[in-house]
Parts: sequence; C-alpha cells; structure tokens
Amino acid sequence: MKHVVLLGGSGYVGKTFQEILSKRNISFRNFSRTELNYYNPAKLKEALKAEAPDCLINAAGYTGKPNVDACEDDKANCLLGNAVLPGIIREVCESLKLPWGHVSSGCIYTGSRSDGSGFLEDDTPNFDFRHNNCSFYSGTKALGEEVLKGAENCYIWRLRIPFDERNNPRNYLTKLLTYEWLLDAENSVSQRFEFIDACLACFEKEIPSGVYNVTNPGAISAREITEIMKTHGMVKKELKFFESEEAFMSEVVRAPRSNCIMSSEKLSSLDIRLTEVHEAVDRACKNWTE
Ligand SMILES: NC(=O)c1ccc[n+]([C@@H]2O[C@H](COP(=O)([O-])OP(=O)(O)OC[C@H]3O[C@@H](n4cnc5c(N)ncnc54)[C@H](OP(=O)(O)O)[C@@H]3O)[C@@H](O)[C@H]2O)c1
Repeated sequence: MKHVVLLGGSGYVGKTFQEILSKRNISFRNFSRTELNYYNPAKLKEALKAEAPDCLINAAGYTGKPNVDACEDDKANCLLGNAVLPGIIREVCESLKLPWGHVSSGCIYTGSRSDGSGFLEDDTPNFDFRHNNCSFYSGTKALGEEVLKGAENCYIWRLRIPFDERNNPRNYLTKLLTYEWLLDAENSVSQRFEFIDACLACFEKEIPSGVYNVTNPGAISAREITEIMKTHGMVKKELKFFESEEAFMSEVVRAPRSNCIMSSEKLSSLDIRLTEVHEAVDRACKNWTE
C-alpha cells in the first residue's frame, strides 16, 4: 500500500486510521467534507484521479451525537451518510477500478444464530427496516450494506462496539465506567486498533473482497467486563445493572439497541486474527490510561 485516500478521517474511527497509517509511514490523504464534498460523485472522482491512491477507506458515516438516539431526529442526514454515500463511493471507485473498504457495523443483528453461535457474514440482517425492530441508525447501516451488495474490489468491515485502553467517551470501557445503570448484555466487540490493523491487512494480504466481521473472537457480557475491570482496580463505585432489557429500553433509551454475537471465523480463516475477546479486554484494562 503506497498511498491511501481516507474519508471521514476527523471521526473517532477515522482518527484511528490516521494514527495507524502515520505510525506505519503509509502515505495518505484525508478528505474532510469541508475540504471536498465527497457526496458529489464528480468532485470525488476528480479528486481521486488527481490523488491516484492505491485504495480508499471510507470511515465517514452518520453516528448521531451524543448517541444513536440523535439519528431519530435527523433521519435525512443519517440516510445520506450511511446508505447513500456508500453507493456514491461505490459508483466512483468502480468507474476508476479502485479497491476500497467501507466501515460498516455489526449493529444490523440482534441476538445470535438459533444454535447460539455468532452471525456469519452471509446471514441476513435481523435488526433492520425489513424487520421493523431497529433504531434508524441500524436500519441505515443495513441499507448501506444492501447498496454495496456485489460491489467490485470492496471490503465491508463490520465494526462492533469499539474499545481499547484509552479513556474516551466513545470507548465501550469508559461507557461502562460512567453510565449510572448498565445492561448486562452479551456482545461481540472490536478492539479499536486491532480493527484498523485487520482492515489494512485485507489490502496487504489481498484477500477476496466482500463482507468481514472484524470482531475479537468470542463474546463477552457487560458484567464479565466489569469483573475484569475490578481485578485491575478500575471500578471506583458500585455498579448498578438493569433487571432486564425491557427495563433498560423503557427507562433510558429512545431507539432500540442491538446486542449480538458475531463470528470472526471468516477473517481468521484467511489468517487475519484478532485477540480472543476476554484476553483483549483484560489487556486494555491492564494498560488503562486516564
Ligand atoms: N464508533 C462506533 O461505535 C462505531 C461502531 C460500528 C460502526 N461504526 C461506523 O464507523 C464509521 C465511523 O464512525 P465514527 O464513530 O468514527 O463516527 P464519527 O466520529 O461521527 O465520525 C464520522 C465522520 O463522518 C464524516 N461525515 C460524513 N457525513 C457526515 C454527516 N452527515 N454528519 C456527520 N459526519 C459526517 C465526518 O468526517 P469529515 O467531516 O472529516 O468528512 C465525521 O467526522 C461510521 O460509518 C459508523 O457507522 C462506528
């Protein structure tokens, strides 16, 4: 990889791409919306022709601030960022025959497969507009994947609940430490830096294009995480858990939340491996920085 174009580099995930690309001395150019209106296909194409990258990474999207509930109030922008934009990038990249990757999300699923195992990449989303059970955010992320079905030279990387050792309001571990009430749900999760390494490895190893669940192998409950945090002296208050998901839904949030288990086997079968989830959480807690 000699030169990369990054979209959405000012965001939480985009900044992580910038940090890792810089650390590895990989040349990249970040286009922010203010610098280049990348929603305009002609402008995006012109910029890509001038930049002549080996690949493009799309870390742009609409997540809602302070959380996904905000997407319920800004539906047009949410649809544009998560469902329309991937289609625009696809059209431009395919016309230039440019390989690219799109940051998607595991939040298009809820629960696990019927045998309790993690969702596979080809499993149809079950937390989307078609099932009429989702947040507006999840619905648009699922639509974004539909728009990219069959895309040429395109990786769709499903990120899921990023965490790492740096205290930050976007870090799942920070959220568990700061929320007054917690929901003891089981999830597959993604160590933020391992996620980025895995995405870059897709280009480096030239694995087949398509959808990849980029999560740490296994699943972990919020309670298990807090138990690990306690062993590292991170928990300084009494933690309170909701009695049920229904109680959580009725008291705290507006839009339904996804909790799900995903299989990371497709990626590991291609020799791109993330750390087992309990070990990865333990390491993040051990190296915790305020
Ligand atoms: N963070 C998570 O927990 C998480 C989990 C799973 C998946 N994801 C996915 O990862 C991608 C990046 O998420 P993130 O957490 O880094 O999001 P973020 O912090 O909100 O950043 C997203 C970036 O997207 C760009 N953008 C383009 N259109 C936008 C719009 N209409 N409104 C706001 N920003 C817009 C902006 O970059 P410029 O201004 O530089 O153009 C912005 O900084 C998204 O597709 C998200 O769905 C995130």
